[in-house]
Amino acid sequence: MEIIICENYEEVSQKAAQIMLNVIKDKENAVIGLATGSTPIGLYQNLIKDHQDHQSSYESVITFNLDEYVNLPKEHPESYYSFMHTNLLNHININEENVHIPSGLGEDIQANCNAYEESLKSYEMDIQLLGVGRNGHIGFNEPGTSFDSVTHVVDLDEKTIQDNARFFEGNMDLVPKKAITMGIASIMRAKKILLVANGTNKADAIYELVKGEISTSCPVTVLRNHPCVYVVIDKDAASRL
Ligand code: GLP
Repeated sequence: MEIIICENYEEVSQKAAQIMLNVIKDKENAVIGLATGSTPIGLYQNLIKDHQDHQSSYESVITFNLDEYVNLPKEHPESYYSFMHTNLLNHININEENVHIPSGLGEDIQANCNAYEESLKSYEMDIQLLGVGRNGHIGFNEPGTSFDSVTHVVDLDEKTIQDNARFFEGNMDLVPKKAITMGIASIMRAKKILLVANGTNKADAIYELVKGEISTSCPVTVLRNHPCVYVVIDKDAASRL
């Protein structure tokens, strides 16, 4: 695990974008795993800037997103579909047919999970981007999730609902209570993993990742079992190391 400690969020975003760009520039049809949450927004801005200034191309790039809320229409501004289009996809030359975001809509969500996992498995993921929840969740794999899990439906943890209420008028009642997420085993198949975090509210999760016991009670700790992980964090997130 390579831990890169940065001065601030801007530096986290730049360094992490550089790691992502190296993969994209190295391989025309790179397969990249994308994440939502506020942390990757700066990284996405750097990717957009590089695309505009240096013509980095996404023409043959294939993307898979980690997760999506269940029963939130795609066009809802807080759906992860909208998030990805607003913060990245609408600003680069990606082919929409190469974009994969799990669907939390329809009668049979389990069938959506199975189809997503099948599609994911038919590619070799070059790099998977991750944020981390305060409780150590990755994607929406909450504490207690099996390390063998594949794409599945989850009930969101109380802490996660609280944290995400800021995107839903500060009202926990408006936050969807279920989501569909790549599983931990799905994430671990990626050749490289890039985790970004900033702020003191992530310091406990980062401490667990680096120094804690590898345990399903803190899902992010599974990354210590992966051969190629970059952890790009600011001083505040690193404050307990
Ligand atoms: C959500 C997402 C996660 C993300 C987490 C942290 O729960 N499903 O993928 O890592 O939020 O979000 P933030 O970066 O806003 O702290």
